[in-house]
Amino acid sequence: MFSYRHGFHAGNHADVLKHMVLIAVLKYLTSKPTAITVVDTHAGAGLYRLDSDFAGTSGEALDGIVKLLASPLAAEPPPLLADYLELVASFNPSGRTKIYPGSPFVTQALLRKEPRDKLWLFELHPTDSKLLAGHVDQLEQKRQVALKREDGFEGLRALLPPPSRRGLVLIDPSYEIKSDYGRVGACIQESLRKFATGTYMVWYPVIPRPEAHELPRRLKTLANQAGKPWLHATLNIGQSPERADTHTPGETPPRQGLTASGVFLVNPPHTLKAALQQVLPLLVETLGRGRGQGQVVEGGG
Ligand SMILES: C[S@@+](CC[C@H](N)C(=O)[O-])C[C@H]1O[C@@H](n2cnc3c(N)ncnc32)[C@H](O)[C@@H]1O
Repeated sequence: MFSYRHGFHAGNHADVLKHMVLIAVLKYLTSKPTAITVVDTHAGAGLYRLDSDFAGTSGEALDGIVKLLASPLAAEPPPLLADYLELVASFNPSGRTKIYPGSPFVTQALLRKEPRDKLWLFELHPTDSKLLAGHVDQLEQKRQVALKREDGFEGLRALLPPPSRRGLVLIDPSYEIKSDYGRVGACIQESLRKFATGTYMVWYPVIPRPEAHELPRRLKTLANQAGKPWLHATLNIGQSPERADTHTPGETPPRQGLTASGVFLVNPPHTLKAALQQVLPLLVETLGRGRGQGQVVEGGG
């Protein structure tokens, strides 16, 4: 069984990038009057406590949402970031950021009752799917949300094209197993054949592994072959000099954790590229830790 639990990573820099872009896409899609369908193939637990043992052990939010909230950028954020910070704040009415919303709750917060938007969630991990079910059950609008403890790549097949003919597919695996990289490519290829006008958003880790380097290249090729616009953005917070320098010589340096990640979109909102070009350099300035930090925005719809 899988050992990945998103609770260890909730609110890290990769979540900041992913959830900020997710909000931008959803805001764009819901700005038109027709209903949308959103499929989240790898949903996670939905809500996370930043003061839990999980989050406390890894401390990843400290290099993500926590650092961002404490920075001058949070006082004067550009629109894309303002929407993200506002949404996170809406889960923390006391003013202290204790709860971090995962993709199911980020999405649900933006769905409309009228027209009736729909959200499909897939989560395989027994504990996280149970937690997710409990969280979804608390929602007033829970009938808009369908939750399946099934393989998200497989489950997506039966849902495309959605009756709404408008929508978003978020593919956010943990890449714990190497085959996830290949499955993402195959899933995009097949899905584009069935639902060519859908918006697709893939998150992936930028790590020194051939499959991870290959994935955005493969997705570009697939989008180009299908004649669809795409957008690719990465955020790299770099290596922390403290963590690299404070270890005893001869011992393995403390782990830096994930330093960079990317999002790849097919059929992105045409407004997104400019918005990312504005915000990503500011995020690098704010979250950057040193060597290797940077960002990329390419493509653009
Ligand atoms: C990166 S986490 C998801 C985080 C979530 N999308 C968010 O942004 O809040 C990936 C999740 O996918 C689940 N998972 C792994 N393989 C899966 C599969 N084939 N189908 C559905 N869920 C899967 C894992 O248990 C894990 O909870």
